[in-house]
Amino acid sequence: MSLEWKYLEIEGYEAVIEARNATCGLHTIIAVHSTKLGPSLGGTRMFPYATREAGLADVLRLASDMTAKSSIAQTGLGGGKSIIFGDARTQKTPALLAAYAEAVNVLQGKYICAEDVGTSTEDMQEIIKHTRFVAGLSGRYGSGDPSRFTAWGCFIGLQAACEAVWGSKDVAGKTVALQGLGHVGMYLAEHLFWHGAKLIVADVVAERCEWARLNLGAKVVAPSEILSTPCDILAPCAMGGAINKDSVKNIHCKVIAGAANSVLATPDMGRELLNKGITYAPDVVINAGGIINVTTELDPQGYNSCEALRRVGQIGRNVTEVLAISKKQGITPQEAASQLAQNNLARGIGKRQHECVFHTAQHAATI
Ligand code: NAI
Repeated sequence: MSLEWKYLEIEGYEAVIEARNATCGLHTIIAVHSTKLGPSLGGTRMFPYATREAGLADVLRLASDMTAKSSIAQTGLGGGKSIIFGDARTQKTPALLAAYAEAVNVLQGKYICAEDVGTSTEDMQEIIKHTRFVAGLSGRYGSGDPSRFTAWGCFIGLQAACEAVWGSKDVAGKTVALQGLGHVGMYLAEHLFWHGAKLIVADVVAERCEWARLNLGAKVVAPSEILSTPCDILAPCAMGGAINKDSVKNIHCKVIAGAANSVLATPDMGRELLNKGITYAPDVVINAGGIINVTTELDPQGYNSCEALRRVGQIGRNVTEVLAISKKQGITPQEAASQLAQNNLARGIGKRQHECVFHTAQHAATI
């Protein structure tokens, strides 16, 4: 059976397609929120959503977040995202990924996929056999692991938030409670350690905490305690929704600056934090290092890590700007970020100046 697909009419989105292939069990939704500043780029998330509606709501939210993130970071890309319904551990097959690539091709380059929760660079290596609209691969032409750049951008953004609150970027002597020592969290913990911060960490994987205790002098607390641990800076680097109506009551910090996506479970949490006098560096601003790194892969001259590092440096200035808008206008940092993103979109600031070049796809047969 071949791919069956249809466009969904969703207000505010340029194109949303839902595709299925009954033979390999593919059910995917690809959402292109905006291509105003360039083709949309966003990860491919594979997850066993309870319902089709839950998956649709997730992909739409994530796609519009990508528009905001790329617009503020001025990557010359738009916002998009895709989801594949299913369990990544048991239902992912080469045939399913090939059918998914066929769905990506339907959009003719309006959407570029990359790895995300439930997909890996190995999966992208499979997908690139069937579509060239893939980014974030490893190997000679790829930009490799984005986590290092996400962590560095997060560190710079965290320093900018410190400057807004304490008048200095210096994290030496500051206590940082870090939730999640995964790909990004561990790199961030290292940067904080080398810059003299005192670390309190939690992860559901005990060995990661033990490594941080031994090598970074971190104090380890239980995952259930990390959000309520008194500290100067809270850095959520695990799953989304860390700040919710329950956890917000017990947070004791001055700054929240971490890499996790969707840190605020609901938008009203931004106002709660403002009322508590907590400065929040919005996720769409502070965790853009990965997307900036991936974008560099699509430059005509090919990927260059030094160029990616230079561009990630902009994150500090973006956090400073968003916090200044928030303070001046009495709006939440999240609202200020949204305003900045809208402004860039409306004025075409950061619009792509040259076509994306898919170097990895061009050389796919040789890597
Ligand atoms: P990861 O899966 O490598 O790390 C997440 C870590 O959090 C794991 O070590 C996990 O054991 C831990 N964890 C899960 N639940 C926890 C809990 N309740 N308490 C404490 N620890 C818990 O993921 P990665 O790549 O490090 O990403 C972290 C966050 O940053 C995610 O929200 C991701 O969406 C976001 N992000 C990551 C980017 C990247 O370049 N990897 C880019 C932009 C955002």
